Amino acid sequence: MRLVLKNIGKLLGVENEPTPFVAGARMEHINVIDDAWLVIEQEKIVCYGTGEVLPFTDDEVLDCKGGMVMPAFCDSHTHLVYAGSREREYEDKIRGLSYEEIAKRGGGILNSASLMAATEESQLFDLSLPRVMEILKSGTGAVEIKSGYGLNTGDELKMLRVIKRLREETPLTIRSTFLGAHAFPDAYKNNRDQYVQLVVEEMIPAVAGEQLADYIDVFCDRGFFSVEQTDRILEAGQKNGLIPKIHANELDYSGGIQVGVKYEAQSVDHLEYIGSNELDALKSGNTMPTLLPGASFFLGLDYAPARKLIEAGLPVALASDYNPGSSPSGNMEFVMSLGITQLKMLPNEVFNAVTQNGAYAMGVEGFLGSITPGKLANLILTVPMPGFGFMPYSYGTSQIQKVIINGEIQS
Ligand code: NIG
Ligand code: FE
Repeated sequence: MRLVLKNIGKLLGVENEPTPFVAGARMEHINVIDDAWLVIEQEKIVCYGTGEVLPFTDDEVLDCKGGMVMPAFCDSHTHLVYAGSREREYEDKIRGLSYEEIAKRGGGILNSASLMAATEESQLFDLSLPRVMEILKSGTGAVEIKSGYGLNTGDELKMLRVIKRLREETPLTIRSTFLGAHAFPDAYKNNRDQYVQLVVEEMIPAVAGEQLADYIDVFCDRGFFSVEQTDRILEAGQKNGLIPKIHANELDYSGGIQVGVKYEAQSVDHLEYIGSNELDALKSGNTMPTLLPGASFFLGLDYAPARKLIEAGLPVALASDYNPGSSPSGNMEFVMSLGITQLKMLPNEVFNAVTQNGAYAMGVEGFLGSITPGKLANLILTVPMPGFGFMPYSYGTSQIQKVIINGEIQS
């Protein structure tokens, strides 16, 4: 049966022959069809047009009543499989401790690792499933999820198996990233290279052996993994077929961007610290710079220089970083609002950053991220709005009326 969407006020993000991503000044542009219709068949977008549509008698018809239709969000960076919340740490932060100081006291990622160790796989799945369903209702149609709260082989594999189960049991498109190199466990604090060795020699082969991850991540930043350690890990990942998507330059000019580009990373993420060397490295490759303004917002840190990247002719993707420590929200409408208010991105730039460029940042641009015949019908129907810019502008109030995933209207 076909699903026909009629009376669409504006169909946003129409691309007959999409480029893999949108960069520089082109990010200001989105293709729009006014007064449109769209036909979905067998999970996919079949065709669209403008004006009156004449459905077949057995078509299911959704009257959009002037609402806008756009591609569902592609959230290319999350840590949404976790075992317990960390709101207590926020109190330490209010009392003046920095993110790094909290981490040094056994809070932060190590706190999540202790909670992870004490949580069984089935319980972890039960805790994570509602988060996936929550982001789906908030308009996310594809999500990347990382491990990284295990920090030992067994618990890292446990997290990745939960991600695999979420992939099998929910309608979202999910990509999985192995992040064993997220933090150094206490037992290795005086011998960090030994932990790197464990990641390289034991964890990566185990993850690849069970085909549990698409990507490999390293937290390459001041106080965490050095460039040399990151290099070793990415090299081992590459040998095992894992493409990098790394955390870099959140806390300093870490060299993470350069090492990521060297290994042809799909994306380098955070990027609060960007200078001319970083821009040159990004310009030399096809790695997607991905910004996570939710983490800057929640931690009270500086925002990444989005304008500098776009003005250098580069693309930008935005993602939520949904995690219990630095960004406990997967709400992409709010991420868009931070994009316009804090990153000084234009609404159309933000649109491209959460659709096409987000899709590229998680390697799903071939079948998601734009309104294109043959692509998967993962769509958002908004309430009637004066223009797309109203969506990021009206922060805290959702403009989403319905979400369609794999061609099915979600309840
Ligand atoms: O992306 N920066 C490193 N990792 C996460 C934080 C994870 C946590 O605090 O639990 C991030 O912000
Ligand atoms: Fe992150």
